[in-house]
Amino acid sequence: ARPSSVRIVEVGPRDGLQNEPGLVPVAAKVALIDALAEAGLDVIESGSFVSPKWVPQMADTAEVLKGISPKEGVRYPVLTPNLKGLELALAAGVTEVAVFAAASEAFSAKNINCTIAESLERFAPVLDLARARGVAVRGYVSCVLGCPYQGEVPVAKVVEVSEALVAMGCYEISLGDTIGVGTPDKAKAMAKAVADNIGIARTALHFHDTYGQALANVLACLDLGIATLDASVAGLGGCPYAKGASGNLATEDLVYMLDGLGIRTGVDLEKLAAAGRAITAALGRTPASRVAQALAAR
Ligand code: HMG
Ligand code: MG
Repeated sequence: ARPSSVRIVEVGPRDGLQNEPGLVPVAAKVALIDALAEAGLDVIESGSFVSPKWVPQMADTAEVLKGISPKEGVRYPVLTPNLKGLELALAAGVTEVAVFAAASEAFSAKNINCTIAESLERFAPVLDLARARGVAVRGYVSCVLGCPYQGEVPVAKVVEVSEALVAMGCYEISLGDTIGVGTPDKAKAMAKAVADNIGIARTALHFHDTYGQALANVLACLDLGIATLDASVAGLGGCPYAKGASGNLATEDLVYMLDGLGIRTGVDLEKLAAAGRAITAALGRTPASRVAQALAAR
């Protein structure tokens, strides 16, 4: 059955901005994160402690975190691919992080320069140190419905990597359709296979909207009872190491649909859309979100 409320994990400041061709000023990132918190989002992925050579757009994450005005009850997680990333995150005062693996060997090599097995070995000490410091760790699995480099990805591999991350101590697994190739029945079957193994409460979904399927995929998976959904304000986003990965599911579109379904999110759509307009204006564009465009045209 569909959940009565959904937690939205806003990934715009990270997944959205990591792919921008130009560098986005720290002040614009800070304003975005604070505006998202004001709009009622209570989990805002705010950056990454990754190699600045690999993803220069996220090199300012510590400064961004210093600049925001943390709101009571809001979590501001960041990505940490290795122990060095976690140490930098801890030094910046972070209390929640995410590690990221893939269900595709080819993507793992391109994105984090190691095999899937090596990535899991690399995450073990990250999880250990995080546990010792009381830091919660989310796990991502990329390419759950297809890979830009190897094509088909078996559901069994998605389940295997998800289970490995949970066994290591990740409290939740976000299933990433990195290049947005999934369609509803396949998305639902994949999500069900994972949820049957790690539990519905640990299962989150992370759809990119490259082929315009993200909302349809969410709707199909909601019927499983999954209640944690990632989205990116204004539909910003893409992964620099996934050719052709366009924006994530737009948070405005997701909130509008959930509002219409009577599923609570705690997010104020008008304030959210304003946050999306402000960041896209700073980037010299308008929001990719259809809902944001409709609201602006009234
Ligand atoms: P590597 O080159 O194999 O790593 O990269 P290394 O350990 O050999 O280090 C190379 C250099 O990077 C060294 O510096 C390290 O100190 C430095 P040098 O000695 O050359 O001056 N370094 C770091 N610096 C800062 N922070 C760190 C760090 N680690 C090493 N944490 C590595 C391996 C994993 C570091 C690299 O491949 C990397 O940073 N990859 C990140 C790629 C990335 O961020 N991709 C986007 C996020 S994933 C995504 O978008 C998908 C998702 O949205 C879900 C979905 O949609 O599917 C989550
Ligand atoms: Mg992503």
